[in-house]
Amino acid sequence: MTKKDFIPGASSNTLQKGTVTYRAPSNIALVKYWGKKPDQVPANPSLSFMLDACATTTTMTYGAKAGGQTGFSFDLLFNGRPKEAFRPKIRTFLERVAPYVPFVHDHHFTIETANSFPHSSGIASSASGMAALALCLMEMEKELFPDMERDFLFAKASFLARLGSGSASRSIVGSLVHWGEHKGTPGSTDLYGIPYPHEVHPVFTRYQDTILLVDKGQKQVSSTVGHELMQGHPYAEARFGQAHAHLDRLRSIFKDGELDDFMALVESEALTLHAMMMCSSPYFILMKPNTLQIIERIWEFRRSTGAHVCFTLDAGANVHVLYPDHEKEAVMSFIEEALVPFCENGQYIQDNVGTGARKS
Ligand code: DP6
Repeated sequence: MTKKDFIPGASSNTLQKGTVTYRAPSNIALVKYWGKKPDQVPANPSLSFMLDACATTTTMTYGAKAGGQTGFSFDLLFNGRPKEAFRPKIRTFLERVAPYVPFVHDHHFTIETANSFPHSSGIASSASGMAALALCLMEMEKELFPDMERDFLFAKASFLARLGSGSASRSIVGSLVHWGEHKGTPGSTDLYGIPYPHEVHPVFTRYQDTILLVDKGQKQVSSTVGHELMQGHPYAEARFGQAHAHLDRLRSIFKDGELDDFMALVESEALTLHAMMMCSSPYFILMKPNTLQIIERIWEFRRSTGAHVCFTLDAGANVHVLYPDHEKEAVMSFIEEALVPFCENGQYIQDNVGTGARKS
């Protein structure tokens, strides 16, 4: 596939008016995307768990645009109320996707969106939000091309979502989702995410993720700026190579269910991501003292009990605690007793690996 394959031909149908709703989950990267080239092309391939409880639900109502109006025409409601602050992001998204879904020029849209998690939780909603939006657009395109195949719809939705936010490409379909060209992953491409094509041990299909909300404040440095700082970064090439090597290594880890090696690799990815931030120019730190307290407690607990519990981090202070479903009881009592005291207002979100977005 090339990006030209996503430019539609002429259709004998027209898009009239209607409503479409999608619920798209968030995802947590195991191998991190950090650094990009122009046009939302990732500097290295990445792999994530699809989440389940953390999701964005978006309804798009579409109809004829008022005559004589130029530019994109849309109303935006977040949790039922107009949200000015989100409009520029949506406008940029529409500009980027317009060559591939040209009908966005001719229609008025009412976009109603809501997250299952609190907006100020420090959990990024760009992945789930852009994925839900992209899926709604693809459902409209299906009106124009009713024979469109499901695989194409998902691939193009991921392609469009990527143009909004890179990690959104991994919030469409699959439990483990791979995005970015990688020699050892058949079908992998920088253009869109694909369900992990190799064998996966059942222990990973019901993995748990308890998200500890350590700091709910606005981040000091956005992911977009962080990605830019990988350009000319002294360790960039070594890091990109490491991501490829980690994906090679994960193949047997996933196949055989090797949890010790899985935990070591996932934690190394998380700490490398934050190490890259700490030696960018300018440098910055997104972890908070409580992030480190939690990490130390996890290590202590693992040493003393042998539990298969590990952590990962996204571009913020919150900690994702990952463990297999069959160890849930013991790990949850440890989390509640030893880790929740380090969360802001004792808040955390219980999530697990899901299967992808759903139309409703
Ligand atoms: C640390 O997808 O938020 O979560 O493409 O600029 O929108 P943009 O960046 P974004 O970056 C995510 C970075 C990360 C790692 C990951 O999800 O792979």
